[in-house]
Amino acid sequence: MTGAPEPGIAQNLKFVSKAAAIAREAGARLREFYAQGVETEYKGDVDIVTVADRTVEKLIRTRLGEVFPDHGVYGEEGTRERMEGEFRWYVDPLDGTTNFAHGFPQFCVSMGLEQRAAGIKAGEDGTLVAAVIYDPLRDELFTAERGQGAYLNGKRARVSRTRELAEALLATGFPSRKRHTSPNIHFYQEFTLRSHGVRRAGSAALDLAYVACGRMDAFWEFNLNPWDTAAGILLVEEAGGRVTDFAGGRFQLKSEEILATNGLIHDELVGFFGDMFAGRNLAPIPTPEEFARNREQGNKGPRDQAGKG
Ligand code: IPD
Ligand code: CA
Ligand code: CA
Repeated sequence: MTGAPEPGIAQNLKFVSKAAAIAREAGARLREFYAQGVETEYKGDVDIVTVADRTVEKLIRTRLGEVFPDHGVYGEEGTRERMEGEFRWYVDPLDGTTNFAHGFPQFCVSMGLEQRAAGIKAGEDGTLVAAVIYDPLRDELFTAERGQGAYLNGKRARVSRTRELAEALLATGFPSRKRHTSPNIHFYQEFTLRSHGVRRAGSAALDLAYVACGRMDAFWEFNLNPWDTAAGILLVEEAGGRVTDFAGGRFQLKSEEILATNGLIHDELVGFFGDMFAGRNLAPIPTPEEFARNREQGNKGPRDQAGKG
């Protein structure tokens, strides 16, 4: 299965062709599970996992071991193999589990490869060198190798040319663990008021892939893990975009925060994060209580004036 060249992918690439074949096989398994429906188990409050997550991680781990026997694997469902090696795959077998479990068609397989120099400390980042994200329902394969550009189904992918936040379409996500401690709803609100809109589609890896191919102009999230971000970061960078923390500093895989943009609106968004964290320039919105009070007092808005029915 991994012997056949991946159509549309240049054969001089070192990792992507073989990894893409694995992601396609993994995606085909996800499609089967999705069609038949799966039971969900709880890892935490609302953090769910299914037999599909575990089965597909096992499949990817086995296949990676066959084609890259020296490479390490670090997977969301617990795989920690050959962690001392020069290369390490960060694997999310199913990014978008909640969507998957509810039959909402937005999820993917994500595999990002890091190269780690000899002697590097355990908590330090190496260099991301290859990325594969596969959406099995749309049959969309996003790939990148460092220095070789980003591709969607074999065609060059590039970030958007949107020049300002006011004209941007954004994406974000919310954590399923410790969700009471996340301030992101405030950012969601403020960015919604300042842009064309914010989508919360439920797969961080696809959000990043969409920034890479220009469908979205930026993505931010708190508290992601390396298996969510590793592949998407390289895709965005190879597509001409920029990835940092919220202060514009170097992104690290263990970072709590990620901001990925088309590059053109990056500084504007970093400035805006600064304002938000300092409590500056926030747009006041009515609380539900204030809204209800206003409504009861018969506050006549344009809709009332036009008459009902
Ligand atoms: C989740 C998705 C979601 C993001 C969550 C992630 P999972 O990954 O990427 O978009 O908002 O923070 O945990 O659990 O579906 O692999
Ligand atoms: Ca994930
Ligand atoms: Ca997952």
